Amino acid sequence: MQPISVVGALILATAMGGVHCQPRARGDGSNSFAGSNLYFLHALPPAEQKAYVETLAEWGVRVVRLWVTYTDAGCLKGSTVGSIPPFELTVGTYDNTVLDVLDSTLKLLHDNSIKAIISPHNANSLTGSAACDAYCDKYTNASTFYSSTEAKADYDNRLNAILSYRSPNFGGRAWKDMGEVILAFDLQNEPLIAQLDKLNANDPDDWLCGRAGALKGSLGSSNIKVATGGIGGSQYCCDHEFNLLDKALQCDAIDILSVHGYMSKASDWAYFITGDKSVLVQANAAGKHVMVEEWGVSTSYQDNFDRQVEVFNDAGIPWLYWQVVPGLDGSQAGHPDECGYDGFEISVDSPKGDLSSAVAAANAATANQSWVGYIG
Ligand SMILES: *[C@@H]1O[C@H](CO)[C@@H](O)[C@H](O)[C@H]1NC(C)=O
Ligand SMILES: *[C@@H]1O[C@H](CO)[C@@H](O)[C@H](O)[C@H]1NC(C)=O
Repeated sequence: MQPISVVGALILATAMGGVHCQPRARGDGSNSFAGSNLYFLHALPPAEQKAYVETLAEWGVRVVRLWVTYTDAGCLKGSTVGSIPPFELTVGTYDNTVLDVLDSTLKLLHDNSIKAIISPHNANSLTGSAACDAYCDKYTNASTFYSSTEAKADYDNRLNAILSYRSPNFGGRAWKDMGEVILAFDLQNEPLIAQLDKLNANDPDDWLCGRAGALKGSLGSSNIKVATGGIGGSQYCCDHEFNLLDKALQCDAIDILSVHGYMSKASDWAYFITGDKSVLVQANAAGKHVMVEEWGVSTSYQDNFDRQVEVFNDAGIPWLYWQVVPGLDGSQAGHPDECGYDGFEISVDSPKGDLSSAVAAANAATANQSWVGYIG
């Protein structure tokens, strides 16, 4: 998904959900797990972050996906966020503000036994579709970003700067050494999105495996994993199935193939999870891990959250929803009008989906693949 940048002005008090009393399931990696994306979690006021993370922890959430991204101050998906500057205002000049606030979010997650997946950059900001960032300014054309040797070196420097950032909350240790806090780094959010020629040609620039190698090199002996971040963007039938691109399946430096998808029907997910195009079968054959790193349900979809999530939990494949939000979602009465909604949001206390039961079912499901050493 691509976040919508909004300079909204509406102020909204967040109402957190009721008290949940069931004990948190603790997995050792042999069961599945679940969680949410919240790309602007670090931009929320600390008290709202705390209430949100504690609610997810009470449900038994194990993983939350964070983004190294700027935000504009204002109303965002039912919450009010602060202004966070970009990590790179110009390519190669780093501003650690966003890493500083993310580090506090990591502390909060760790205190609640939740691990993070960190997306270091958003491919949608290369094209101007979500925004035009420093790489978009410098390389103009997203195709050049993926093919240019200079751009690859610039991007590897960014990855290394993030991985070697020293954590104020964890005794000055580098993020790359915090395997008990961070499950994985993505190569990028949705690498190669809208680059159909490159996707159909199986990544001729070797961008994916090259960046994975750079990440692995920086990670050294760390047990933090490398995930793809959703190659090509959403998976959809039948000519847009790039999440498990051959080059990535064959790349030694990639541990986790991230699946992103937005399906109207549960049967469409079944096709990709256990059916003809099973990502589990493909990943198992290649010796890779696979998880549903983004999925979402809009109110206009044929099958609702509860029907769709059953496909993942029945198959024992981990999933992260896009996105469980702390504020009101767009299906709830009283939600603000102009607030950057994409229609997939589910509020922590929304009737749109039974989040708490879905997470409990994931934790109770035997995983199709062992996540020992990843989660636990
Ligand atoms: C980007 O560059 C590629 C390769 O040179 C070219 O085919 C494509 O038309 C360019 N796209 C834009 C939007 O300029
Ligand atoms: C994993 O899922 C695939 C696809 O449904 C299935 O063929 C395979 O038997 C499953 N393996 C395990 C260990 O559950």
